[in-house]
Amino acid sequence: MKTITQTYLLLAASAALVAGAASADPFTQADLDRWKAEYMTSVEKGEKLFHGGLKSKNTVSCDQCHPNATNIHPETYPKFQQQLGKVAVLGEMINWCIMNPLESDPLALDDPDMVDLQSYIHWERRGVPLAPGKH
Ligand code: HEC
Repeated sequence: MKTITQTYLLLAASAALVAGAASADPFTQADLDRWKAEYMTSVEKGEKLFHGGLKSKNTVSCDQCHPNATNIHPETYPKFQQQLGKVAVLGEMINWCIMNPLESDPLALDDPDMVDLQSYIHWERRGVPLAPGKH
């Protein structure tokens, strides 16, 4: 078992490594533009999935209950979710909705559709302060 000090020193050492790696791997404005475009493509795909594009077994879509993603609170995750009986990440709650209201098979947490749904849901709430655990 490591002491807290040993753990802290390890963390400090890894942070130094990461900082070193970051300065050795500079990025350009063109990189930033490309990364932003990739993210916005994911947001657009997520928006389509949310508004009927995610084919569910019972044809129910997310926007029938959540008209858009602005009334979903991704900034409160991870949090205790009564439906799941545990502290959950956003993707687990999305899967709860996919399995229950949509009566469909859950997505792997790294499924591209799951990533796109989260890109859209987070984008709609951009700028809202983080409030993990909040109800
Ligand atoms: C039949 C209605 C219904 C449909 C359709 C539905 N949901 Fe939900 N959703 C709910 C309910 C009810 C909750 C639980 C509210 C709570 O506990 O905060 C919820 C909660 C959520 C939450 C957590 C919200 C929060 O603020 O904690 C997310 C994220 C979510 N839904 C995403 C989705 C997505 C994505 C889809 C489509 C794949 C979807 N929902 C489809 C009813 C629905």
